[in-house]
Amino acid sequence: MKKLMAANWKMYKTRDEAEQTARGLVGLVAGRIPADREVLVIPPFTALSVVARELAAIPGFSLGAQNFYPAAQGAFTGEIAPDMLLDLGCAYALAGHSERRHVLGESDAFVGRKVAFGLAAGLRMILCVGEKIEERQAGLVREVVKRQLDAGLSDVVPDVHPETLVVAYEPVWAIGTGLTAGPADVAEAHGFVREMLRARYGEKGNEVRILYGGSVKPENSGEIIGIDNVDGVLVGGASLRAESFAAIALA
Ligand code: PGA
Repeated sequence: MKKLMAANWKMYKTRDEAEQTARGLVGLVAGRIPADREVLVIPPFTALSVVARELAAIPGFSLGAQNFYPAAQGAFTGEIAPDMLLDLGCAYALAGHSERRHVLGESDAFVGRKVAFGLAAGLRMILCVGEKIEERQAGLVREVVKRQLDAGLSDVVPDVHPETLVVAYEPVWAIGTGLTAGPADVAEAHGFVREMLRARYGEKGNEVRILYGGSVKPENSGEIIGIDNVDGVLVGGASLRAESFAAIALA
């Protein structure tokens, strides 16, 4: 199982900026990615094609999208379909990122539709889950993560190939705040996600990658990646500069 080191650029970067960052990243990382790692860049839609060009044919790199609408095509003004992303060279897509749940109002059920639809369309899906600070303080971490995983995976076919499914545990209070969950909290949450994946998929649940996200930076990525059941990281702020994401990807 390859560790997945993912850069989520959110709503940052024009095409020129994205091209420069991707080129810088390739310069720093190409040829140095260990065989057991995969580096994933997730730019905004408008920069997918320039980033695809920079990453094309470079071993160890993949391209991903931040979102899509779960339909093949149709009258959905402003939306983008999975086939359009595959056409641009995307291998992965996110679903259930906390900003989409809590800023854009996406429900657990809608996230579940996206995960199943994206997988069926041929994308590898990264399902993001994680609790808000008040839920953590109320001792509800497991309940929230269980609810989001159950809904997020409810329509996924039972014989899903484990390599195509990824879960990202991202405590909402750690995203973009500079706060990271401590190693014990990360181990506990990831252990719980693993238990749930095993309950659902049996032995195959061990092969589904579980990423940690939330204020990952070069200074803490080495420690985080060494925690049990952490199979990669999903990085926002610290992925925007080639130098800092390169340091994380190779940590
Ligand atoms: P952050 O974002 O690294 O800026 O905390 C992580 C994410 O939103 O995936």
